[in-house]
Amino acid sequence: MSECLLLLLLCQLSLYSLVTPVKVCGRPPVGPHVDDGDFQRVYEVGHEVFLSCKPGYSQTKGTRKITCGVSGTWSHSTFSCEPKRCSIPGPLLHGAIQAADNVYRSTINYTCNEGYILRGSSFSHCLSDGTWSHSLPSCDPVICSLPEIPKYGKFIASRKFKDNTTFFGDSVEYVCPPPLALFGDERGFCTSNGNWTRTPECRLVTCPPPTGIPNGFMSFAVKRDHGYKERVRYGCNANYVLDGPMEAECEKTGNWSTKPVCRAPCTVGIERGRIFYNGKKMWIKELKPKRILHADLLAVYCKNEEKNCGYPVATQCIDGKLQIPACFKEPGRLEYNLNPSSLPSEIEMCKSN
Ligand SMILES: *[C@@H]1O[C@H](CO)[C@@H](O)[C@H](O)[C@H]1NC(C)=O
Ligand SMILES: *[C@@H]1O[C@H](CO)[C@@H](O)[C@H](O)[C@H]1NC(C)=O
Ligand SMILES: *[C@@H]1O[C@H](CO)[C@@H](O)[C@H](O)[C@H]1NC(C)=O
Ligand SMILES: *[C@@H]1O[C@H](CO)[C@@H](O)[C@H](O)[C@H]1NC(C)=O
Repeated sequence: MSECLLLLLLCQLSLYSLVTPVKVCGRPPVGPHVDDGDFQRVYEVGHEVFLSCKPGYSQTKGTRKITCGVSGTWSHSTFSCEPKRCSIPGPLLHGAIQAADNVYRSTINYTCNEGYILRGSSFSHCLSDGTWSHSLPSCDPVICSLPEIPKYGKFIASRKFKDNTTFFGDSVEYVCPPPLALFGDERGFCTSNGNWTRTPECRLVTCPPPTGIPNGFMSFAVKRDHGYKERVRYGCNANYVLDGPMEAECEKTGNWSTKPVCRAPCTVGIERGRIFYNGKKMWIKELKPKRILHADLLAVYCKNEEKNCGYPVATQCIDGKLQIPACFKEPGRLEYNLNPSSLPSEIEMCKSN
């Protein structure tokens, strides 16, 4: 047993004595991304190694050459590598580029806006030579056929449609010739699914013969059905005032638009006194005939007993009704005839504060 051990020890000693006098260097210690594929396990003193970066990486600093020194250590170098960058492509018209990074091995994606179709690759990789694996795609608009022409109608295009094709975003305006009325959307679009929006319809619309209005008349009206958008004009009898639109139009619903109303004049129910009307201060007997029209303003005079002065109070004729202000006191026949200068309209006017 002990003999055996001794033999082993001897053998090892003899081996050491053969190797120890020669100094060598091991694999060069290098940073990340340095190409170490061709490195040897050992190098002799004085051996030179030229460092390089792995594919896709480029040198940023340091010297390439390192030497195996006499002490068995490599000369120092700060040689380091970083990934190459691909320049960001674009812009992508009607689309977008999603890029988290543009270094070697990164991927960018391409997308198109709604209504546009991607032609080409939707992604691209940054290659080791600093170029992209796929060229920039394009975003082409969705194609629609020509829009349908509404029966009895037509459309007006936003631009001249060539080769029977239209594109996403193209639009038309539909028109129905009178007396046809358009039902649906007046504007149509080539949509992102390649179809046009729903075509409207042109339908015949008639309104019943127009009817008259109280205290008024229709001008140039004939007792017949009227077509869409046809109009009749209204007027009022003498002293009546037209309130509302002068014309009614046959509408899409087959009904007439709102007709005007004739508003009645007002009788001024004052026998004695003075009024202010039409910019003039006048005695009531001067108002001939004794009425005012709808919406007209009129003022009567009231008396402030405390200050012994007179003041005007306005009132308005509303469709045949004229409210005489409560403060107005119609004078008696005697006072009116013998002492008119004592009436509120004739005494000193109150100072408006
Ligand atoms: C690109 O698309 C892929 C697959 O859909 C996804 O995994 C990746 O995160 C996208 N990259 C970017 C930068 O958006
Ligand atoms: C467009 O369509 C019409 C009718 O379908 C056809 O007569 C015409 O030749 C077409 N024009 C082109 C340029 O394709
Ligand atoms: C487009 O119109 C065609 C014909 O009317 C119809 O068959 C199709 O379903 C429509 N497509 C979409 C996406 O609405
Ligand atoms: C319009 O006419 C229809 C019948 O044609 C009727 O049902 C509807 O109430 C009318 N609408 C208006 C606003 O007068």
